Amino acid sequence: MSAALWRTIPQLFPGKPTFTEADIPEQHGKVIIVTGGNAGLGYHLCKILYERGAKVYMLSRSQSKAEEAITKIKTEVTKSPGDLKYIHIDLADMTTIKPAVQAFAAQETKLDILFNNAGIGAAPDGSKTKQGFELLMGTNAIAPFLLTQLLLSYLQTAAKTAPKNCVRVVWTASPIIEDSYVPAGGLTVSHLESPHLSNFNNYALSKTANWYLASELAHRVQKDGIVSVVQNPGNLKTAVWDPAPWWIRKLMSITMHPPIYGAYTNLWAGVSENVTLEDGVQGKYVVPWGQWHSTPRKDLLDALKGEGEGGTGHAGKVWAWCEEKTRVWA
Ligand SMILES: NC(=O)c1ccc[n+]([C@@H]2O[C@H](COP(=O)([O-])OP(=O)(O)OC[C@H]3O[C@@H](n4cnc5c(N)ncnc54)[C@H](OP(=O)(O)O)[C@@H]3O)[C@@H](O)[C@H]2O)c1
Repeated sequence: MSAALWRTIPQLFPGKPTFTEADIPEQHGKVIIVTGGNAGLGYHLCKILYERGAKVYMLSRSQSKAEEAITKIKTEVTKSPGDLKYIHIDLADMTTIKPAVQAFAAQETKLDILFNNAGIGAAPDGSKTKQGFELLMGTNAIAPFLLTQLLLSYLQTAAKTAPKNCVRVVWTASPIIEDSYVPAGGLTVSHLESPHLSNFNNYALSKTANWYLASELAHRVQKDGIVSVVQNPGNLKTAVWDPAPWWIRKLMSITMHPPIYGAYTNLWAGVSENVTLEDGVQGKYVVPWGQWHSTPRKDLLDALKGEGEGGTGHAGKVWAWCEEKTRVWA
């Protein structure tokens, strides 16, 4: 069996979840953002966090879908000391990121946890964001980078008074990064400059970018007491694969699990006591349904390290590229 399969199979068939809503501590007093919380695993994430008392902001691109989801959650969760609110964001349109942060800032002074969850898995080849980025990279990585940058001061404020390791940014990867869709050596700036033609490669590269950005951010904000960590939520029965060809969906359905399990992986990364500042800095990677990846790809781990530390420095260069390209909307 290939090394990629050895790494992927445990993530596709991780057994029953052991960290569930029953293990989530009280979240009252916390302010949390979930991007894409109106559907899929993000919906369950919002619901569980709201149920546990958090004030949750659902950052979504569709007002009607978000309001419908919020009404459903509030109907099902009849008692919570928290709140659940919608703010508009379209990660495929950079001009919506700063207004979303401004709408948040008008209501809050701190942010305890940011779940960079929203994403797309498939799009017609050649699709682009409003500002011309390759659509998967733009939606799944470049816009979340800008959002995180703009929210940083709110995370720093929360970290000043929160218990150690409790203020976190959770990024979203995928089992696909184990595969050859991410070429040996990993994502490089050249992939950003000249995007691949294939949807799967672009998806896999966008998810690799999330690992890079998680690691780079972890180094930058460790001094502030902010944890930054990446997770693969697991293969889940959600709408994310709807645009993919039917035969791919059929094939993938064999390995798909209930969407709430993906919320458990996020919650392990976002609120469990198992995750610390040092884990993010070490580039550790969370896999379903909340555990550390035991055999991450060495070339990707090398990409997280600078050239001076024996790595390839690709993560640092991708971060710098995102910084430069998004400056105009910051
Ligand atoms: N499901 C899986 O098997 C799987 C595996 C690995 C990783 N993931 C990742 O897990 C995350 C959640 O996916 P899911 O499975 O829950 O999929 P989903 O059901 O399709 O939910 C994705 C969420 O992201 C939102 N979104 C998409 N494009 C957006 C944009 N331009 N701006 C703002 N929000 C946007 C969607 O909004 P709309 O409802 O308006 O479309 C939806 O709320 C994604 O990052 C995905 O790549 C999923």
